[in-house]
Amino acid sequence: MQWRYNVPMTNPHTQATAHMLNGRVVADHLINALAEVTEAHVAQGRSRPGLAVVLVGDDPASEVYVGHKIRACERVGIRSLAHRLPASVTEEALLSLIDELNQDEGVAGILVQLPLPEGINAAAVTRRISPSKDVDGFHPTNMGLLAQRTPAIRPCTPRGVITLLNYYRLDPKGQEALVVGASNIVGRPLMLELLLAGATVTIAHRFTRDLKKHVGRAGILCVAVGRADLIDPDWIAPGTVVVDIGIHRDEDGRLRGDLDFERARQKASWITPVPGGVGPMTVATLLQNTLQAAGIIPADFALKATHHNA
Ligand code: GUN
Repeated sequence: MQWRYNVPMTNPHTQATAHMLNGRVVADHLINALAEVTEAHVAQGRSRPGLAVVLVGDDPASEVYVGHKIRACERVGIRSLAHRLPASVTEEALLSLIDELNQDEGVAGILVQLPLPEGINAAAVTRRISPSKDVDGFHPTNMGLLAQRTPAIRPCTPRGVITLLNYYRLDPKGQEALVVGASNIVGRPLMLELLLAGATVTIAHRFTRDLKKHVGRAGILCVAVGRADLIDPDWIAPGTVVVDIGIHRDEDGRLRGDLDFERARQKASWITPVPGGVGPMTVATLLQNTLQAAGIIPADFALKATHHNA
């Protein structure tokens, strides 16, 4: 069974365009719930959790993302501790900062914004962060635990996608899911999340033959290729749930995803807008992971599915 059979109003002849998977709304709910828990924690006389945010160099996109993360910390009541390092910093100096943060009891979570400048081994940096403070969920221990179905801290974007689907009562169990893009930070962990949620998962990548065939089979299509228009929306089967994880600026300076939204929404039953889809979910999930790392919420803390499908 595919999504198109079990969601309402998915007939392309009766439904002109898809329902929105509104990441802004869901992220706001999550942030409000996290703020409430944090304030209750602090009101008991306990210490406010801290998140160390490390930004190396001056990549403009990374500056924007880090800004969003720091502002969201303020909304939840998490202390953000920004560490800005020049692009010329040595790997050794970065690793010793991580060692200090690992030891610092005031730091519940450590985030090193990626990409790192050339010459710094991102894998070595990721491995240096204590798995218990690895709020990105990128450490091999956290990725391995997710692969073995005993997740601890889970990568933010994939977990955020699952939270978003849950909120709209879209259960991946038994669905054909296609993840396009096999990166370490999105595609691979999203494959594992969807598998954990009971989907039959395919992952497509640069060596995949006949991408069109795979896209046409998917009941849930997640696109994280970092390139616009690789997928022709004509390939998407009517009624598919579409999750667009890309973000780009078009020629007119407007933000858009990997997909042509206006065409994809004619085929999909549900779709994430860009901006306002997956992006806010990534940020809210980072804060969720920080409270989890601080021991303030349990690993299975989840938003209730409060949305009522028409
Ligand atoms: N760069 C792009 N996405 C991410 C993310 O989720 N975490 C970190 N640390 N860097 C990123």
